[in-house]
Amino acid sequence: MTSAISLFSPVEADLCLLADNLKNLVGARHPILRAAAEHLFGAGGKRIRPAIVLLLSRATTPKHAITPKHRRLAEITEMIHTASLVHDDVVDESEVRRGAPTVHSSFGNRIAVLAGDFLFAQSSWYLANLDNLTVVKLLSQVIMDFAEGEIRQGLNQFNTGLSIAAYLEKNYYKTASLIANSSKAVGVLSGVSEKLVEQLYGYGRNFGLAYQIVDDILDFTGSTEVLGKPAFSDLCSGNLTAPVLYAMEENPYLTKIIERKFAEEGDLAQAVSLTHDSSGIERSRELAAKHGQQAIECLGDLPPSASRQALLDLSQYNLRRLH
Ligand code: IPE
Ligand code: IPE
Ligand code: MG
Ligand code: MG
Repeated sequence: MTSAISLFSPVEADLCLLADNLKNLVGARHPILRAAAEHLFGAGGKRIRPAIVLLLSRATTPKHAITPKHRRLAEITEMIHTASLVHDDVVDESEVRRGAPTVHSSFGNRIAVLAGDFLFAQSSWYLANLDNLTVVKLLSQVIMDFAEGEIRQGLNQFNTGLSIAAYLEKNYYKTASLIANSSKAVGVLSGVSEKLVEQLYGYGRNFGLAYQIVDDILDFTGSTEVLGKPAFSDLCSGNLTAPVLYAMEENPYLTKIIERKFAEEGDLAQAVSLTHDSSGIERSRELAAKHGQQAIECLGDLPPSASRQALLDLSQYNLRRLH
């Protein structure tokens, strides 16, 4: 499997700089926040989102030159993502993230909620300092969308009537909005045409949807060691994702045991195995592949460059995570 990191070679030096900067940007205020920042930004995040921002920045600027504003946008993007993970782990009661204990399991829920708030607030502050109102609006919308996505997910626990369309919409809010709007913001900062700005948004949106679908499949097929976070956690908490939504169409008994919230012994294990025995995982993979392909098509007008190629390959890499 090609590692994501080798795909990032056109922006490798930029990503190293970003890692140092992130720790410094969050660090100074309080020992707990410093500890949380070290913990979060030092651990093994894949840095897919800032890599996309940096690659798009190089692909849309003359001579592939990157400006300090593009770099700051990449940092803000990873900061928002990390804040959302801190809150997500509280909501999901997850103990492990990036192969390390989560902030709430180390410091408690109250500190984790406040540390997440702090990261959101700090990202807003750096965002305002970009002095570009359009970009401020795009990324503020992301923070609203994230909360909307988590609330929709919370309200739909064990809702066996959830449609694929509603599932995808929720995925847009909680995951794709960040990638879509930060990609769009790159176009705004680079001063490209309105048409290209919309295409960059389309790339981020479709890539983000495919990325979350793959993450949802991996929850069924991956191991905790490889994922760096617990497996089967979605189903267990009633978060019904593509594989199980498709599997329920084939198996009414699966719907029944989900509706009784796995009340009887062995229900959860059986739900996992019924999902594996159905075409749910394959159909989910096809859905992710469809969005991955749409992401690739959105970059058709971008002039050829090593960065553009890396962005195209990234969409393929996402699907290869399943093998
Ligand atoms: C996790 O994102 C949450 C999802 C939207 C799937 P990543 O898998 O990109 O998390 P890190 O940053 O690499 O830890
Ligand atoms: C992604 O959803 C949550 C965010 C966008 C923060 P998940 O709940 O699937 O993410 P993981 O699986 O915990 O990384
Ligand atoms: Mg989670
Ligand atoms: Mg997940």
